[in-house]
This record gives sequence, C-alpha cells and structure tokens, in this order.
Amino acid sequence: MKVFTAQEGLKRYLNTLSPSANEIGLVPTMGSLHSGHLSLIEQSKKQNDCTFVSIFVNPTQFDKKEDLEKYPRTLEKDLNLLREKTCDVVYAPSIQDIYQQNVSSQKFDFDGLETEMEGKYRIGHFDGVGTIVKALLEIVNPTNAYFGEKDFQQLQVIRKMVKKYHLPVNVVSCPIFREANGLAMSSRNERLSTQQRKEAAFIFKTLSAVKEKINSLSPKEIESWVNLQFKNHPNFELEYFSIADENTLQRVSQIEPKKSYRAFIAAYADSIRLIDNLSL
Ligand code: PAJ
Repeated sequence: MKVFTAQEGLKRYLNTLSPSANEIGLVPTMGSLHSGHLSLIEQSKKQNDCTFVSIFVNPTQFDKKEDLEKYPRTLEKDLNLLREKTCDVVYAPSIQDIYQQNVSSQKFDFDGLETEMEGKYRIGHFDGVGTIVKALLEIVNPTNAYFGEKDFQQLQVIRKMVKKYHLPVNVVSCPIFREANGLAMSSRNERLSTQQRKEAAFIFKTLSAVKEKINSLSPKEIESWVNLQFKNHPNFELEYFSIADENTLQRVSQIEPKKSYRAFIAAYADSIRLIDNLSL
C-alpha cells in the first residue's frame, strides 16, 4: 500500500499509471475508519483496478471549532486497517498541502440543496464539503468516487456539484452500514458511552416506525409523533426531523406516488450530534 502525505508525490505516482488500463476508485474519508467506511472501500475494490482512500479532517466543513478539535484522529490504526483491506493508495495530506496559506472554502450554489436540513444548522458546511471533494477529485481524477447514504444530503450535494462543474467522475452511492442494534455507524459513535450507544438504537427504531406509518398518516402527523417520541426520551434531543423529497431534499406535506422520499433525523446525545435517514 502506498501512502502519500503530499500532492506532489501522489501526482508523480498517478503519472506512472496508464489511464486506459487503470480504473481508479476514490473513497474520501476523514479517517477514524469503521465498518461503514470499509464497506465503501470493498465496493470500490469490486469495481476498479486501484482503490484510493483519502484521509483528511477537513477544517472548512466544521462550523464549530470544538467539533473540529474533538474529531477523532487515528491515522496509524486507519493505515493498519487499510493494509488489511489491501487498499492500494492512501492520500493523507496536511492542511497546508490542500489549502496552502488560505484555509477557506469556495462558495457554491447547489440549487438550494445546501440550505435544507444540515445546511440550516451547520452554516457553511456544504461549501467546505464541496471545496474538499472538488479538490480531491481534481487531484486524483478517479473513474468512480464512493459516498455513503449515511450522509444522504452530502451525497446529493456532491452529485449536483459533479453535474454543475462537469466533473468527469461517476458518483457511486453506498447503503448505510449499521451496528447490530440499528445505529448507523459513525466516527462520532466512539464518543458515546456504552449506555448511550445502546440507547441510540432509538433513532433507527423511530425512523423504522416512520416507514411503517407513512401509508396511514400524513407527513405532518408523523412529524408530531416523532417530536413526541423525542420529548418523552430523557437522553436524546431532536434537532430536526424531516420527511423530504429525495431529489430536492425539501420537506413535504403530501406523499405523491412515483416520487421517492426519505425520513431524516439529527439529534443530540449530550453534546454528540448524530444523524440518520431511511428511504421510505
Ligand atoms: P466521513 O464522515 O469520514 O465519511 C466518509 C464516507 O463514509 C462518506 O461518504 C460517508 O457517507 C460514508 N459513511 C460514513 N458512515 C457510514 C455508514 N455507516 N454507512 C455507509 N457509509 C458511511 O463524509 C465525510 O467523511 C466528509 O464529509 C468527506 C466526504 C470525506 C469530505 O471531507
């Protein structure tokens, strides 16, 4: 496995690969790898000759300094996991290698996708995501890039960016990888206590109940029901719940046949923010 910490070496290596003979899959991550990330890597390995994983805790997508500082960083452990998975290339750059002296994000227009849900609560988040993903795609120039449905809004934002900027890459979406109790795997789960981790199954349970109720109740009635579940739960605070059109991500008040919808939740366990979603 080759590990690069700077663009220069990575680009030199890329020049030795013949583009026609090598399909490259890129899996962008912020490290602290878990089985959710590994499922993306496995998917890439099936579909490409070479799998690249980037590990970079991107400062411009964090709206809270404290969240950025607390983000787990486990590079050596990650590299060992990736060696076991026989990943081909890792790019783990420094902040300077990506941003030089200017640690700021480009401003994007994602046709309103960026102002729904996460965009309302994490100001500038998707500008940061767009900036880093665009940079990584331009540096690696992969055939395919892999993103998890765990961050469904991010996935749609990236699809929009690829379309708007005519980036020559195929975006591949991967299903949410869950713990046995249903909790969506996340690097943030490491910060939950054993008790919180058990209890956090409540989020997936609530989403699953929503999926059952969608045929008999209106989105508004379901919203009230979800609000009540969280009100009655002593350890989770709901930030938002939304039943939204998968393409526009806008909250809906009516379900129409032939359209695709998802239910989205963001909630806090103490200061730890968890997100999840489920296709309806
Ligand atoms: P990170 O949170 O490390 O996630 C990297 C990729 O793994 C994302 O595409 C995310 O959706 C996917 N992922 C995380 N948990 C998953 C799960 N339980 N099941 C399936 N996929 C999962 O998302 C980011 O990093 C960053 O925003 C990034 C795209 C790397 C840009 O900095």
